[in-house]
Amino acid sequence: MEQAYAPYSDFRVGAALRGADGSISIGCNVENAAFPAGFCAERAAVAGAVSRGVRQFTHLVIATEADAPTPPCGMCRQMFVEFDAAGDLEILSVTRDGARAQWRLADLAPAPFTNTSLAHHS
Ligand code: THU
Repeated sequence: MEQAYAPYSDFRVGAALRGADGSISIGCNVENAAFPAGFCAERAAVAGAVSRGVRQFTHLVIATEADAPTPPCGMCRQMFVEFDAAGDLEILSVTRDGARAQWRLADLAPAPFTNTSLAHHS
């Protein structure tokens, strides 16, 4: 979160993703003057993990400066579904004040589009 580049929203986010191998991959949000080109902390962490060969994840922690813990956005939920179709990923969101919220991915993405959805294309 401290390293986030968020001059437009001023909403800094950090993410730490624990791989099934015990590794921790981190990410922060990186914004851009062309707004849609920016990306979230969570997907930055996924990119780092996959780049080191880790594709199975057990826990995600999200840190922000918001008053209340915030869940990941829809695009990030979809990205995690790609690597956890069963929705077992444990997601913990924390604030500077120590407030916490916790979900399973399946709680946040109950009816996901997956690779099996693609298989129904004729
Ligand atoms: N953002 C994240 O990085 N993760 C989240 O969980 C929510 C939103 C970023 C995107 C954008 O840079 C800023 O926070 C405001 O939406």
